[in-house]
Amino acid sequence: MDPEIYRKQSSLRHSAIPEALTEISGRLLHRVRYVRDTNESGPGLLGHSYALETGIETLAHYEAWADTYDKEISEELGYAQPVRCAAALSAVVSNQNGTTAGRVLDVGCGTGLSGLALKQAGFTNLDGCDFSAPMLDRAAATGIYQQLFEADLNEGLDVPDETYDAVAAVGVFSFGHIQPSALREMLRVVRLNGPVVIGLNDHYWDLGTFQSEVDAIETDGVATLVFREHGDHLPGADIQGWVVVLAKAGD
Ligand SMILES: C[S@@+](CC[C@H](N)C(=O)[O-])C[C@H]1O[C@@H](n2cnc3c(N)ncnc32)[C@H](O)[C@@H]1O
Repeated sequence: MDPEIYRKQSSLRHSAIPEALTEISGRLLHRVRYVRDTNESGPGLLGHSYALETGIETLAHYEAWADTYDKEISEELGYAQPVRCAAALSAVVSNQNGTTAGRVLDVGCGTGLSGLALKQAGFTNLDGCDFSAPMLDRAAATGIYQQLFEADLNEGLDVPDETYDAVAAVGVFSFGHIQPSALREMLRVVRLNGPVVIGLNDHYWDLGTFQSEVDAIETDGVATLVFREHGDHLPGADIQGWVVVLAKAGD
């Protein structure tokens, strides 16, 4: 049976989405910082992702994209990050002599592509959260997740400390999406020594803000970078990206 989605409206009003859609539809393409040739004139919405700046624009973007996201990203562009992140998490858990049976939170789970890859790697005890209601509806329909809930990671998670054995965030640190400061919130909800895996594209990585936050987290002794690998992100659009795993500090 599909899990019931725990709805918690963020301060970003979903009712404001139609206004935001109208506002951005006419100007988004002018503001695209980065669009690959394969997508520039095509019907897909990938290019818009790189023009987003605010949470309300991002909510509107996924409201429009939810129906066709899987087809464009996975079927047409060969989205590689979910499988890469699941493999990296598996490798780190195995190095820690851990098990894939623990509870995993898939942050920004979207339609469930990241959850599917985690499940296929053996992580079957999965919860997911996202701030987009239409994306969560699609995640629920996959039947992959035990629990799903609405959450805006830039506002924080309504989850007690150390609830999860691992946390994943695949394709969610990006322009107008989750900010690097949310890394500390993800580390708060993972157990001591627990891994947090993140997959992100080169364009966001190259801004440097994510890397600076990882450096600060290590300097503060909150977590250690235990895995870092460059490779495919969206090979069909010739976009590459990084997978990193942080391990929360122990006691
Ligand atoms: C590119 S999709 C990735 C979805 C999924 N993880 C995957 O790999 O297919 C990014 C997701 O992040 C979500 N998202 C963006 N900003 C967010 C925020 N501030 N809080 C929670 N979710 C957010 C979007 O709604 C969207 O579902």
